[in-house]
Amino acid sequence: MAQGGAADVPSLPQTRSIPFSKPLLGEEERQIVLRALEEGALGGNGPYTSVLCQTIQALFNVRHAVATTSASDALELAMMALDVRPGDEVILPSFTFVSAANAVLRQGGRPVFVDIEPESWNIDPDDIERHITPATRGIIPVHYAGLGCAMERISQLARAHRLWVVEDAAQAIGARYAGRYLVTFGDCGCYSFHITKNLTCGEGGALVTNDEALAHRAEVIAEKGTNRPTFLRGQVDRYTWVALCSSFILSDLLAALMIEQLKKLDEINGRRVALWQCYHTELADLEAQGRIVRPVKRPQAEHNGHIYAFLCADVGRRDRVLAALNARGVGATFHYVPLHSSPYARRHGLYTGDLPVTDRVSASLVRLPLYPELTAEDQTYVIESVYEVFKGA
Ligand SMILES: Cc1ncc(COP(=O)(O)O)c(C=O)c1O
Repeated sequence: MAQGGAADVPSLPQTRSIPFSKPLLGEEERQIVLRALEEGALGGNGPYTSVLCQTIQALFNVRHAVATTSASDALELAMMALDVRPGDEVILPSFTFVSAANAVLRQGGRPVFVDIEPESWNIDPDDIERHITPATRGIIPVHYAGLGCAMERISQLARAHRLWVVEDAAQAIGARYAGRYLVTFGDCGCYSFHITKNLTCGEGGALVTNDEALAHRAEVIAEKGTNRPTFLRGQVDRYTWVALCSSFILSDLLAALMIEQLKKLDEINGRRVALWQCYHTELADLEAQGRIVRPVKRPQAEHNGHIYAFLCADVGRRDRVLAALNARGVGATFHYVPLHSSPYARRHGLYTGDLPVTDRVSASLVRLPLYPELTAEDQTYVIESVYEVFKGA
């Protein structure tokens, strides 16, 4: 192990404790949850869920929304609604959360892991193209950090090869690309309302789509394979079993909480983007010194400040940098461990070769604390800590 530099000596006394993330929840959320409780609005697909779905549709300009228990479930729902079958191949990045891969596998499909772009850390369209075969059915682009993937190229590839596109927008609520909300490029998109996301109800998510037939299949699958949603709209006089499915619906109590969170979309995203920009500006010198590599934002991408991350130029230093930041009370952390070379992928024949950019980004990435209530003083402390840790490294 290389010696020298503050990163090797995490010995400064810890003066602060700055968490990595913290949701912004206030009196409004408390009030609406209490009201829903008093009204007994606990089950799924109740009045609050209906308002939540209508709000999502209006805010993000989509025709249909199905509230789910998580983005993982929304992705499973998408794979079921798109009828992924054994032998079908689905292309996705290795540098992502495991949910999309699980969703494909649970249908008997085969996730095909491809590399990411060195600048955007998003799925590489050239590598998508290289991996398309006669068995390919779809692509799952993941908008990492709320920064949109190269959607023009991906949509073009999908059209040329008759593939569907499911946008994993777990991190991308409110983010746009070329003036359009992410989730509106693909056949459908999946949001997460997990506690670490910009807006949260603890655990939750949504599948959104402009495709009416897909929306109908999704709402039936989410409701245990019954046409209960049609019944709730008064379109049939009883509901029954119509398909083989599961249960993915969100509790109305959590839907109520999400309604209040969505009212804070601009406030939360605006604050996060300002903090993101501050990190970006203040860390420019460290990049100029060759110590780190900052994220590159495509001009078309209007992000939501979900993550601020940088790469350590010296890949081998990353864990020591994290340890030194943590020792200073800065809740910095790593991110995805590549899926293509994971124990599960290797055991199940999904490892088909190295993905060099994925491996390098995964081994060198550092995420910094970012949440709406991060004070200017604490952010300055984080930035100064980053400089200190790299000083002399
Ligand atoms: C890109 C991505 N997709 C899916 C998920 C899963 O989200 P959920 O926890 O809502 O299932 C996550 C969670 O971190 C994620 O980062």
